[in-house]
Amino acid sequence: MTIVMGIETSCDETGVGFVQDGVLLGDALASSMDEHARFGGVVPEIAARAHVASMIPTVHKAISNAGISLADVGAIAVTAGPGLATALHVGVAAAKAYALALEVPLYAVHHLAGHAAADTLEHGPLPDRSVVLIVSGGHTSLLFVRDLVRTPIVHLSDTLDDAAGEAFDKVSRVLDLPYPGGPSIDAAARSGDRTAVAFPRPLTGPGDPELGFSFSGLKTAVARYVERGIPAGIGVPDVAASFQEAVADVLITKALRACRRQQVQTLVIVGGVAANSRIRELAQERCDQAGIGLRIPPIRLCTDNGAMIAAIGDLLVRDGAKPSPADFSATPTVALSSAQLY
Ligand code: KG4
Ligand code: ZN
Repeated sequence: MTIVMGIETSCDETGVGFVQDGVLLGDALASSMDEHARFGGVVPEIAARAHVASMIPTVHKAISNAGISLADVGAIAVTAGPGLATALHVGVAAAKAYALALEVPLYAVHHLAGHAAADTLEHGPLPDRSVVLIVSGGHTSLLFVRDLVRTPIVHLSDTLDDAAGEAFDKVSRVLDLPYPGGPSIDAAARSGDRTAVAFPRPLTGPGDPELGFSFSGLKTAVARYVERGIPAGIGVPDVAASFQEAVADVLITKALRACRRQQVQTLVIVGGVAANSRIRELAQERCDQAGIGLRIPPIRLCTDNGAMIAAIGDLLVRDGAKPSPADFSATPTVALSSAQLY
């Protein structure tokens, strides 16, 4: 069975992982997160330079964690998009170099397909039909998925404006919580009262698109609330918990609606925001009530990593997919319709 190396550099994490026949052999991650903190968001040029510096050490660390040698690698998968152009280029260049040097096939894959594939490392192959909720820093989508690498992926809805993770990041700035925003809201909310502030549940009124998402208005609602001055008796943790509850409520309500509409029995939640403790808890509660099976990858496989790219590469290799042509390039913006980009 082929050992697939996955390389991920779409944002600020340099990720490398090795997967063989659906099993994660080992992986490693380097992050430039700390270098972006003082800017309050990822600076593409800084991220790209950090990828250049981290790439080879991260490959070596992952090799050592997996207990293999480079010569054991039989195929390579790399995130070709979507993501930051400068950052993607580094991963694509490295993957091409390794593929040439090792004389192994190379697969250009879609970052979001990787997020979905991450779950298979923990829970095995996806069922025949599932609804996948992708919630990351750049995307919020409900997908109808059959075979992740064989069947075109159907978008049931995509956010009209901000992605869920973007809303977490922006609201954390409004609340003066440390960067990165998602984890710090999650942490602050643990000691807060999620019923303290009744923030709006966007697009849940009669006449609104049943599966539609919009988070920009919710973000503004929190900003206005804070600008007016947080009332006595209410603290930042309460505001964080109330905001987080609104996001969790809307995401899960719509995801379960999609499951009913598509008549599927399995909901899969993936992407960085799927690391959120309240989203995980509320999703489990509501899925149990609805009799829907819930799959969420372990937290370390929710945020960007190399294992998820190796996982989607492994699925492609086992399906007999044709390698990507040597002349493909990074593609910063591309909707998810198939796992392989070229
Ligand atoms: O998937 P990801 O690592 O990168 C993208 O593909 O965008 O997702 C990053 C996003 C960020 O917006 C980050 O704030 C959010 O995921 N995030 C979280 C948590 N951990 C990461 N959001 C809420 N709660 C968390 N625990
Ligand atoms: Zn991601």
